[in-house]
Amino acid sequence: MKEELAGAESSVREIRDIQKQAGELRVNLDALTGDNGSVRQLEDRAKSIRTTVEELVNSIADVDDRQSELTKAQDGTIARVAEMKDSAGELGQELQSWDLDRYTYHGETSFEHAMNWKLAIDTFGETYHFNTLHRDTLAHDFYGNVQMYDRFERNHRMMLCLKNIDNLREQQPDDWNVLLAALPVYYLFPNIQLIIGYNGPTLVRVYPDADNPNHSRSRISFYLDPAVTEMQGRNREIDPLDIAQRMHGFADVIRDEDYVAAASSHIGAQSGAIDYVTFGRNEPALHHYHNTYREALGMPPLERISN
Ligand SMILES: [Fe+2]
Repeated sequence: MKEELAGAESSVREIRDIQKQAGELRVNLDALTGDNGSVRQLEDRAKSIRTTVEELVNSIADVDDRQSELTKAQDGTIARVAEMKDSAGELGQELQSWDLDRYTYHGETSFEHAMNWKLAIDTFGETYHFNTLHRDTLAHDFYGNVQMYDRFERNHRMMLCLKNIDNLREQQPDDWNVLLAALPVYYLFPNIQLIIGYNGPTLVRVYPDADNPNHSRSRISFYLDPAVTEMQGRNREIDPLDIAQRMHGFADVIRDEDYVAAASSHIGAQSGAIDYVTFGRNEPALHHYHNTYREALGMPPLERISN
């Protein structure tokens, strides 16, 4: 009997111990999840952070996708210009020789301007204005009022003369690189200027405003020659930023000098004070632009002055 009582007391103690431990556990649990709810808060924060990270990862993937689409679209642009070679006759063979597909897209800029789109195109028509309008910019690198000009149906090619052409006198003709002596500028009807620079092409596209003939927009895209990029890797003296800045600097000259003068001409044309404009004999590109537009619109060519 005594043994039975001792066993029962022992069982009661064990039960009490278990109850006590359970109570302590509950207290600990309450401390963790009770009034201040710190664990729940932490869990909620962890969930929130996990969601935020997932959202960030998804949005980065989304941005990557869009960037990839954009890059494809930009690469597609120069490829489309390259495709135009097939429909551009003799000029097409020449464009093909530049192997335009090898250039890589290197950003773009765009700006709106208060003038008709044809006036913007007109600014790419001659170089005699370099020594005045571009006195402090392009005139440093180009001989103004010197250029070659050839028409190819609705398109044309201008070759601008770089001052660096003088250095070619010291080289054998077989070593000459045309892009160190001249800047080819191709006009592709109706709104494209493709400029083949030594570091890569610059593509200018001018768009009319469908609702406002006094307003237009330019989009200027830059492409780099992979050989130049490779050279940058080998030669630390060649600063890639400098090359990019020079390309963008060219766009700044168009915006801040050419287009400012052209927009000013637009104001003059709109005033009604001018009955007609005379294109000079040293402006063959301007004759060609406007006669081409007129021909496309079923209008007679510009009146020629016989002197
Ligand atoms: Fe200019």
